[in-house]
Amino acid sequence: MKKDSKIYVAGHRGLVGSAIVRNLKSKGYTNVIGKTHKELDLTNQLEVRKFFEEEKPEYVFLAAAHVGGINANSTYPAEFIYENLEIQNNVIKAAHDFKVKKLLFLGSSCIYPKMCPQPIKEEYLLSGYLEPTNEAYALAKISGLKMCQFFKKQYGDNFISCMPTNLYGPNDNFDLETSHVMPALIRKFHEAKVNNEPFVEVWGTGKPLREFLHVDDMADGCVYLMENYDGEEHVNIGTGKEVTIRELAEIIKEVVEFNGELRFNSDKPDGTPRKLLDVSKLEGVGWKYKIELRDGIKDSYEWFVNSIK
Ligand SMILES: NC(=O)c1ccc[n+]([C@@H]2O[C@H](COP(=O)([O-])OP(=O)(O)OC[C@H]3O[C@@H](n4cnc5c(N)ncnc54)[C@H](OP(=O)(O)O)[C@@H]3O)[C@@H](O)[C@H]2O)c1
Repeated sequence: MKKDSKIYVAGHRGLVGSAIVRNLKSKGYTNVIGKTHKELDLTNQLEVRKFFEEEKPEYVFLAAAHVGGINANSTYPAEFIYENLEIQNNVIKAAHDFKVKKLLFLGSSCIYPKMCPQPIKEEYLLSGYLEPTNEAYALAKISGLKMCQFFKKQYGDNFISCMPTNLYGPNDNFDLETSHVMPALIRKFHEAKVNNEPFVEVWGTGKPLREFLHVDDMADGCVYLMENYDGEEHVNIGTGKEVTIRELAEIIKEVVEFNGELRFNSDKPDGTPRKLLDVSKLEGVGWKYKIELRDGIKDSYEWFVNSIK
């Protein structure tokens, strides 16, 4: 990518897309474009084709998707499969037809089988049954990465994919109804501190192991792949490090400076016991994460406090 290449970030206001825009700008890319959902509905094929015809982007980061937590995924599977297939089909096909030089498709670690060996290598894709609660979303994402592979194979399009682990950071969703574990805990500890509550309840036993990557690191990894990777196979993006939910809750408690107690409610589900990506392929390409968990949580907490002000 040249510094003045026209780069379209689809989903530029989301958690991932906004971080990619920040990263590109910090690296001196001057011609980054985006459209909100309202301005351009990516499920509308005609609108997408018109946009590509008029704007002729040279590079595309496909970070727009219909996303949600476990509840939304299992309640609205039809929407999750349909909307995501529509968005990615329209953008990938338009990128092909209007001769985009390179495209990066963003997936998610939920594409891997439920009972995968750990840490999860890229080659474990399609080696077993998916987690039923997010099967619709995962199937759309698998189709997206396969579509990139097949366009590369048949037409030589330089379309690549990456699969990030659990992300967190500025612009995260802190709504307790729909948020992931990290922002939910940050909010719970903050509110308990402000309201002088004696304890915070954490769902489950605290024993499951999870991996977390700061979204600015993820964006840096995505831009790095765009600049340095042309392979057919998708690439995992993560830290390769894991913490228990108990350790995570303890770090957040310290960062937020909550002095009360931490209580685990083991009547609530733990979810899968361990989920860790194998990141040796990414490290082999030459990229490694930089933001340690405690520093990343401080950053995310600061953003949350400012956002509610
Ligand atoms: N968050 C994570 O932990 C995580 C982890 C791994 C992978 N990912 C992947 O990263 C990608 C982005 O996720 P995110 O967390 O950044 O989600 P997000 O914060 O909800 O952002 C999604 C973006 O997509 C846009 N969008 C959705 N439907 C659209 C449509 N029909 N037309 C146009 N724009 C549309 C939204 O636009 P508006 O805001 O204008 O509605 C928003 O900017 C997804 O592919 C996801 O699988 C995320």
